[in-house]
Amino acid sequence: MHYLVYTSTANFPLTIADLRRLLGPWRANNARAQVTGVLLYSEGQILQVLEGEADALHALFAIIAADARHRNVTKLADGRAQGRAFAEWSMQFRTVDPQDFAQFVQQMNTAAGHTARLAPVLASFMAPEQPWA
Ligand SMILES: Cc1cc2nc3c(=O)[nH]c(=O)nc-3n(C[C@H](O)[C@H](O)[C@H](O)COP(=O)(O)O)c2cc1C
Repeated sequence: MHYLVYTSTANFPLTIADLRRLLGPWRANNARAQVTGVLLYSEGQILQVLEGEADALHALFAIIAADARHRNVTKLADGRAQGRAFAEWSMQFRTVDPQDFAQFVQQMNTAAGHTARLAPVLASFMAPEQPWA
């Protein structure tokens, strides 16, 4: 199992409403490719976690990175994971406030390259008591 995390900046007009509409077909693609993950959106800032087989992820990331609807695509992490943190989601979607987003990006940066550290970050993010849940 592999995971890949990146951040980017939405190009106008990629709004929350646009993303909700676009997520339908993206989820269908992901389900076919057995890709799961989460897409966070915070005032035009995006963080996406993708999980799946390495080949499928790298192929998808090449397409996503070239998508003109966002820019500043920056890979934070790309490595092997023990299992899926978002097994139930062909792509979960959350809007988060900017402070929580910045905190999560920082934690992701710290954990990048260390699967053992990444898993607890994802787990704490998923916990219902978190302010952005
Ligand atoms: C922020 C962002 C996240 C995206 N996430 C996904 C995704 O998880 N899965 C996906 O198939 N396409 C995703 N896309 C869209 C791809 O870049 C691409 O448009 C799409 O995969 C093409 O699908 P199609 O060949 O079926 O038209 C994303 C695009 C953006 C801008």
